[in-house]
Amino acid sequence: MKIAVLPGDGIGKEIVAEAVRVINALNEPFELEFAEVGGAAYEAHGHPLPEPTVRLAQAADAVLFGAVGDWKYDALDSHLRPEQAILGLRSQMKLFANFRPAVCYPELIAASTLKPEIVAGLDLLLVRELTGDIYFGQPRGRRDAPDGDFRGAPEAFDTMRYSRPEIERIARVAFEAARKRQRKLTSVDKANVLATSRFWREVVSDVHASYADVALDHMYVDNAAMQLVRAPRSFDVIVTGNMFGDILSDEAAMLTGSIGMLPSASLNERAQGLYEPSHGSAPDIAGKGIANPLATILSVAMMLRHSLNRVDQAARIEGAVKSALASGVRTSDIWSEGTRRVDTSEMTDAVLAAL
Ligand code: IPM
Ligand code: MG
Repeated sequence: MKIAVLPGDGIGKEIVAEAVRVINALNEPFELEFAEVGGAAYEAHGHPLPEPTVRLAQAADAVLFGAVGDWKYDALDSHLRPEQAILGLRSQMKLFANFRPAVCYPELIAASTLKPEIVAGLDLLLVRELTGDIYFGQPRGRRDAPDGDFRGAPEAFDTMRYSRPEIERIARVAFEAARKRQRKLTSVDKANVLATSRFWREVVSDVHASYADVALDHMYVDNAAMQLVRAPRSFDVIVTGNMFGDILSDEAAMLTGSIGMLPSASLNERAQGLYEPSHGSAPDIAGKGIANPLATILSVAMMLRHSLNRVDQAARIEGAVKSALASGVRTSDIWSEGTRRVDTSEMTDAVLAAL
């Protein structure tokens, strides 16, 4: 099994180094190959997603990705910005299905900004469509407005679009995931306003016919944003488009106490996957050794489960993370009164000890 390791920028480098320590501790014959991506790749090769990096990722069974981005690249042309690296990998590897679990560990209830009784026991899975929608829809760009009240004025536009097969395949993935959980799927859209959302709702309902054992409901995205903070435990699996999924997944992440805890998996039709923490490169804390490595370590567990077919090792890592938390060590983002504050590598030490 070959794993492409792309640390990227900012804390991406630090947390991926810790996750690699965990992979090595498994003593499996995995082959790790490293490449630059994001701002680091721009510095070295003049492009955030150089061709050799794409080839390495495409040839691997799985990709371990850190994070990309830094304010110092804000002035670059949009096609050279570090974010293009992750968007490019998603689209070139056809990683259409993004899994973002949000689990509130009992030890971290105090770290959430919500009341304990709201988040205790939270365990939801957000399934985000990742290669379509307004993120990639053409046409897009700038022009002089061809019509309307501001005709002739400079304007910019993006296109929100979804095709039936695109919605069908993500709906199937979400129904399958719900089948392995509480059999409850909430599809989130904006069908009261958007044509793409009305179509989304229609197609998800059609796919439901093959999954009668799963309960399906539909919810408008504004209401979903509200329900996520009002009664987050009422959700089991959420399926939604790329744009709404981006926003709701950050909201769901915060329910758990820290976005530093949340892994993610992005899969294509052949279960090749890219695994990354849900958080970004956090340039404000980069280099200080205080980032939380657990989201990346838990991403390795998702990689073992979904792409490397090693459910046993995945469960081992997840168990070790729970034990590390139970032992009372905390990075700053999840620290609370009565626990011991540790740095990035000490947190990994605790996981390795439990492993
Ligand atoms: C995410 C991020 C990305 C996205 C950015 C970095 C392009 O916010 O993975 O949620 O918008 O998808
Ligand atoms: Mg996001």
